[in-house]
Amino acid sequence: MNSLLSTALMALLAITSTASPVASKPSSSTISTSTTSSSGAPTYTPLTPAQIKSLQTQLLLAPSYKDKEQVLFPPNNGGSANNVTFQFVNNPGTSPQDGSVIVGSLDSIPGLIGTNVAAAIGFIGPCGLNVPHLHPRGNEFLTVVQGTLIGAFLLELDGQFNGDIPQVAMTLTNYTGMLFPQGHTHWQFNPTCEQAVFSAAFDSNDEGRFQVAQTFFSSRPDNVLTASLGNPTFLGPAQLDQLRGIIPAPFVVMVDSCAKACGISTSS
Ligand SMILES: *[C@@H]1O[C@H](CO)[C@@H](O)[C@H](O)[C@H]1NC(C)=O
Ligand SMILES: *[C@@H]1O[C@H](CO)[C@@H](O)[C@H](O)[C@H]1NC(C)=O
Repeated sequence: MNSLLSTALMALLAITSTASPVASKPSSSTISTSTTSSSGAPTYTPLTPAQIKSLQTQLLLAPSYKDKEQVLFPPNNGGSANNVTFQFVNNPGTSPQDGSVIVGSLDSIPGLIGTNVAAAIGFIGPCGLNVPHLHPRGNEFLTVVQGTLIGAFLLELDGQFNGDIPQVAMTLTNYTGMLFPQGHTHWQFNPTCEQAVFSAAFDSNDEGRFQVAQTFFSSRPDNVLTASLGNPTFLGPAQLDQLRGIIPAPFVVMVDSCAKACGISTSS
């Protein structure tokens, strides 16, 4: 407790008194066993798959929050929060350029067991589409932290309409976020020629992802999509080219016109 307090005080000093050279001195006495950065706080080490499994098992067998805390932060661990830390991208210097979504749920962050929280970071390249999907167990709030995305989801309105299922959409840019309600089919599209990056939060530690591409993209069996692209979460203009003919016209038009505007070559 005392060491935590002094670490917090050091941090406070470092923030409030920029002129004091004493404030930035590492508190080496409070941290013994783990790797530390020059500022004195432990540095992150990714958990191995075996460590993840073991932590999951131990946490599920720990009935109270206090029990869980003893599993996550055993005595003499150097005051490290490593078991509740997660690096979404291994090398932040080179973010994924094509398109990918990295999820931090109880599969990758066992420390989330006992909470209703998960998170994701997504990279969507120029004219890229995060294909229609839904999260069966969680609401999502997605915030664009770089570039621009169009976010959209289909409404429920069961039995209240004839014909197309109504959709709501929004252009998201400059740290603007939007709710994607639990169980609703949704997608995001990058309508620009620049990379877009989002950060998303879920109110479940096991929100899941259900690809609706199979039914959404085609009346044919989903082995068309799987065979050509391995059940993709993301489509760029190049991948879309391979699926021309089985993707609904609005998506083809959307990606094609963007690709044309950005000078990305497709076969059309
Ligand atoms: C993470 O949890 C495991 C299991 O309790 C423990 O052995 C390990 O020391 C913990 N790591 C840290 C840095 O606290
Ligand atoms: C977003 O922020 C950038 C950088 O500040 C600015 O140039 C741009 O006009 C903003 N766009 C919108 C739509 O507000």
